[in-house]
Amino acid sequence: MKALIYSGPGKINCESVPDPALIDEKSAIVKTTSCSICGSDLHPYHVDLGRPTYCIGHEAVGEVVELGREVKNFAVGDRVLLAASLGCGKCQPCREGNVVFCQTHRTLRAFGQSLPDIGGCQAQAVAVPVADDNMFHLPDNLSDEVGLMLTDTLSTAWFAARRARVGPGDVVAVIGLGAVGLSSVMCALAMGACRVLAIDLLPNRRRHAAELGAESVENPDVIAGVKELTKDRGVDVVIDANGGAVTTALAIDLIAKGGRISTVGISEQLTIPFPIKAGLYKNMEFHTGICSVQAQVPALVRELERGRLDSAALSKMITHRMGLSEGKEAYAFFDSRNDGVLKVLLDPST
Ligand SMILES: NC(=O)c1ccc[n+]([C@@H]2O[C@H](COP(=O)([O-])OP(=O)(O)OC[C@H]3O[C@@H](n4cnc5c(N)ncnc54)[C@H](O)[C@@H]3O)[C@@H](O)[C@H]2O)c1
Ligand SMILES: [Zn+2]
Ligand SMILES: [Zn+2]
Repeated sequence: MKALIYSGPGKINCESVPDPALIDEKSAIVKTTSCSICGSDLHPYHVDLGRPTYCIGHEAVGEVVELGREVKNFAVGDRVLLAASLGCGKCQPCREGNVVFCQTHRTLRAFGQSLPDIGGCQAQAVAVPVADDNMFHLPDNLSDEVGLMLTDTLSTAWFAARRARVGPGDVVAVIGLGAVGLSSVMCALAMGACRVLAIDLLPNRRRHAAELGAESVENPDVIAGVKELTKDRGVDVVIDANGGAVTTALAIDLIAKGGRISTVGISEQLTIPFPIKAGLYKNMEFHTGICSVQAQVPALVRELERGRLDSAALSKMITHRMGLSEGKEAYAFFDSRNDGVLKVLLDPST
């Protein structure tokens, strides 16, 4: 099969590799129908994380083509979405959906992270470990595009908003309007936020947020802009979907007294400065973490089916389609942020 192979910063190529095989009787083989590139894939593209050559990608939807004998919930031919995060399915946290706390594996497991026994999803087929726990049926009324958003991006946004307990009447600021941040705008509004203020360096992304119902902060001095918009009060919640020193400091500046910050953006630095004194005097809460996709998908599918989250708006976040064979060009293009690119769908058939 064809797959995107990462061999160091800036080096991604579409190559022929052996077809995946069942890992054990609990696993499945899924032939991908669509896969996508995430902001998280850009971190190893920018920075050497010491990973060997491996197949990258953690976002895919597809069709089950082979099943181990112990898989109970799926049949060959089923349309599925793969959860980016992977659990053992047996331990207590995994049974509750909190796979990032898996007690069997201890370290975080996800597709496309260079784990020896787990492949990447930017490929024509993927072996899914513990299939009953690590993939979901994708209902016919949800498109491949929406399925891709559920695999990680939308789930992360929902997780971020839930951790900050976004609720009716909250004023929320979202920093970083990539696909995760824009999805966070949608989730905050669905949870009852009365206002969402949208912050990004890129005007087209701020416009996109405004189309979703946010108020875009246009003042280049963001702190002054948010002060104006909130009559000096600040915001109840900040979702930081960029992560890193600059946006962490900004989040602490923007938060009102007693406010909640939820950071899901991942810094490319191991440590960053943290203006703790400013936060201390605000009695702020600071949350950060990795999303267990399994804990979010069932609620999100219900929200999509009830229409509280708009499937069409989610699909619009996938701004470009390219062939898997154009993976090298697709990464360079996604990284360039040219032409309003927000998320690129890779078609494994071309
Ligand atoms: N915690 C998790 O479980 C989890 C899951 C998925 C993704 N992520 C992370 O979430 C982040 C967002 O993912 P994405 O796909 O939306 O990525 P992205 O790179 O498309 O989005 C980041 C956005 O932040 C903006 N930005 C950068 N610096 C800024 C600044 N100083 N002020 C305002 N905006 C700024 C950029 O312009 C961009 O629009 C990534 O770091 C990704 O690794 C985390
Ligand atoms: Zn992702
Ligand atoms: Zn487990």
